[in-house]
Amino acid sequence: MQNSTTIGFIGAGNMAYAIMSGLINNGTSAKQIKLSDTNEALLSLRKDEFNLEVFTDNVKLVTHCDVIVLAVKPQVLSTVCHQLENTLKTGTLIISIAAGVRARDIDRWLGGNQSIVRTMPNTPALLNQGVTGLFANESVTDLQKQLAGDILDSVGQSLWVEEELMLDAVTALSGSGPAYFFLMIESMANAGVALGLDEQTAQKLSIQTALGASMMASTSGDSAHELRAKVTSPNGTTQAAIDSFQDQNFDVMVAHAMRAAFDRAGELGVELGNSD
Ligand SMILES: NC(=O)c1ccc[n+]([C@@H]2O[C@H](COP(=O)([O-])OP(=O)(O)OC[C@H]3O[C@@H](n4cnc5c(N)ncnc54)[C@H](OP(=O)(O)O)[C@@H]3O)[C@@H](O)[C@H]2O)c1
Repeated sequence: MQNSTTIGFIGAGNMAYAIMSGLINNGTSAKQIKLSDTNEALLSLRKDEFNLEVFTDNVKLVTHCDVIVLAVKPQVLSTVCHQLENTLKTGTLIISIAAGVRARDIDRWLGGNQSIVRTMPNTPALLNQGVTGLFANESVTDLQKQLAGDILDSVGQSLWVEEELMLDAVTALSGSGPAYFFLMIESMANAGVALGLDEQTAQKLSIQTALGASMMASTSGDSAHELRAKVTSPNGTTQAAIDSFQDQNFDVMVAHAMRAAFDRAGELGVELGNSD
C-alpha cells in the first residue's frame, strides 16, 4: 500500500480495532488511518492507543480519505451511507465489513456509481488469524482490488469470490465457522467430563487438540481426509469414534447446518436492504 493512501474507518468497534491493529502492526503509519464513531469514549481510547486522528462526524472523516471502511452494525449502515451521499471524492474505495448488506444496496444509499468491495471477515481476525471473503462490484478497479486485499490481509488471509451470492456461502463456512468449532470444543470437553475427567483438564485437552489439529491441517501437505486416515488405525479407538459419528450422519448434519446459515444470510440481505 502506498504511504500516501489514507484509510478512514467509520465505526471504532471490535472489527475496526482488529483491522486497524493489523495494518499498524504490518507497517501502515497511524497517520494514514482516520477514525470516526458516535461513541466519544471509545474514540478517545483508540486515539490514546494508536495516536490517530479521530472524528465524531462521519462526513468530516470522509473528506480526508481515499478508502472508507464501513465498520458499523448492519442496522445503521443505511443511515451512515445516506450521511455520506454527495460528499465522497471521486475514486473513493468503499469497503464494507457489515454482514449481509448487499453491494447494490450500499451503492444505492451512497448515491450510485461507487466502487464497493463487500467483505465477510471472521472473529479470529482479532488475533491476526482471520480469513475474509471479498466481492468487488463492477466499478472497482484492479488497483482498488489490490488495495482492499492488502487491507484485509493485515488480519489473516483473504480470497475473492466472483459472485456476490458466494459471500453467503463464505458466511456459512468461515463467517459463522468459529462458532461451530467452539461448539465442538464445548461438546468434546463435556463428553470428557462425562467420561470422568475434571472440567479444567477436559477443557484444556479439547482446546489444545483443536489448535494442534488445525495447525497440522494448515501446515501439512496432506488433506484433512488423509490426515484423518493416518491417525485412524483399523479397529482402533479413533475408528470406533469416527464410525459412531458416521452412523449418525455427521456429514449430513454439517451440511444442513451450513445450508441454514446460507439461507439466513440471504434472508438478512433482503431484510437489511429493504430500507430506502
Ligand atoms: N464481530 C464479528 O465477528 C464480525 C464478523 C464479520 C463481520 N462483522 C461486521 O463488522 C461490523 C462491525 O462489527 P463490530 O463487532 O465491530 O461492531 P461494534 O463493536 O458494535 O462496533 C460498531 C461501532 O459503530 C458505532 N456506531 C454506531 N452508529 C454509528 C454511526 N452512525 N456513525 C459512526 N459510528 C457508529 C458503535 O457505537 P455504539 O456502540 O455506541 O452504537 C460502535 O462503536 C458489523 O457490521 C458486523 O456485521 C463483525
